[in-house]
Amino acid sequence: MRLLVTGGAGFIGANFVHSTVAEHPEDTVTVLDSLTYAGSAEALAPLGDAATLVVGDITDAPLVDELVAGADAVVHFAAETHVDNSLADPSAFVTSNLVGTFTVLEAVRRRGVRLHHVSTDEVYGDLPLEDPTVRFTADTPYNPSSPYAATKAGSDLLVRAWVRSYGVAATLSNCSNNFGPYQHVEKFIPRQITNLLTGRRAKLYGTGANVRDWIHVADHNTAVRAILAGGRVGQTYLIGADCQRSNLDVLRTLLGIMGRDPDDFDHVSDRAGHDLRYAIDPTALRDELGWAPVHTDFAAALAATVHWYRDNEAWWAPLKDAVEAGYAKRGQ
Ligand SMILES: NC(=O)c1ccc[n+]([C@@H]2O[C@H](COP(=O)([O-])OP(=O)(O)OC[C@H]3O[C@@H](n4cnc5c(N)ncnc54)[C@H](O)[C@@H]3O)[C@@H](O)[C@H]2O)c1
Repeated sequence: MRLLVTGGAGFIGANFVHSTVAEHPEDTVTVLDSLTYAGSAEALAPLGDAATLVVGDITDAPLVDELVAGADAVVHFAAETHVDNSLADPSAFVTSNLVGTFTVLEAVRRRGVRLHHVSTDEVYGDLPLEDPTVRFTADTPYNPSSPYAATKAGSDLLVRAWVRSYGVAATLSNCSNNFGPYQHVEKFIPRQITNLLTGRRAKLYGTGANVRDWIHVADHNTAVRAILAGGRVGQTYLIGADCQRSNLDVLRTLLGIMGRDPDDFDHVSDRAGHDLRYAIDPTALRDELGWAPVHTDFAAALAATVHWYRDNEAWWAPLKDAVEAGYAKRGQ
């Protein structure tokens, strides 16, 4: 397959490109990424010529059209992704997530190319903390809280409409919170790890009661690959690994892995409109496509992630001070 991977220099996209090159050498991979602050050409550098990086924007219609014309399938990861940034200034989220997805859709429509659209469980809003057995399914109504989630929800609806109205061959997936190598240091888990590695203290929003459903990025990507290969056109697949943890629990696990006292952190002001709990019911994906996560020992996968950040300081260190300055400005 000739794959066009949008956002392939970001966290999940770069991991997808790495695993595709390693496990599907028969594929050719072209990455389209505008290298925003979240994109990293260095994340693809270890692959050498095995993947081609085109630096460009998904809102650039002629460029997207040209690249889509040379592809058998598009895996669409590119997006603005950080909730805190969307609260501070939502404009780039509307442009990249909505106009960008529209541009990709028009190109795949014109060229008759298969599309997989990567989205998030945040489109569903949040769940009450009390009953962990209540989880999102593909039938859960959309109820986004943040500008990030609202623009991802809008992009999903565009994809569904292009399937229905124009017969575009697209699948969608909504995944829970990812962790693993190459995640930007602004995000919760890498922020804590790199705070501790740089002599700063770990930081927890509010009381840390908010619950996220964690999945290792490699498991997310095997699910994307399974959907690309066997998913039904027009279908939405929810991806999750049955790993609900409160932020406090995750932080204490990390502190333990890194040899710190479980209370060795600061509470910082909570995120506006902070969603209480996300949880995915992945039964449909497991039953229909036979997918299952393999990184199911959360503490072990977290320890491996800590090792990766320890070993790859040259990748993240140049980003760290600016990210912490931004958080400090917001009192976080
Ligand atoms: N991180 C998670 O936990 C998570 C969970 C579920 C779904 N998702 C979805 O997965 C996708 C990838 O997320 P991520 O965490 O890797 O994000 P990321 O922020 O690490 O990477 C996004 C990439 O997209 C690129 N990009 C942004 N705007 C662009 C534009 N206009 N044109 C071209 N490239 C552009 C950036 O340069 C960056 O390389 C997103 O669509 C996100 O909504 C993420």
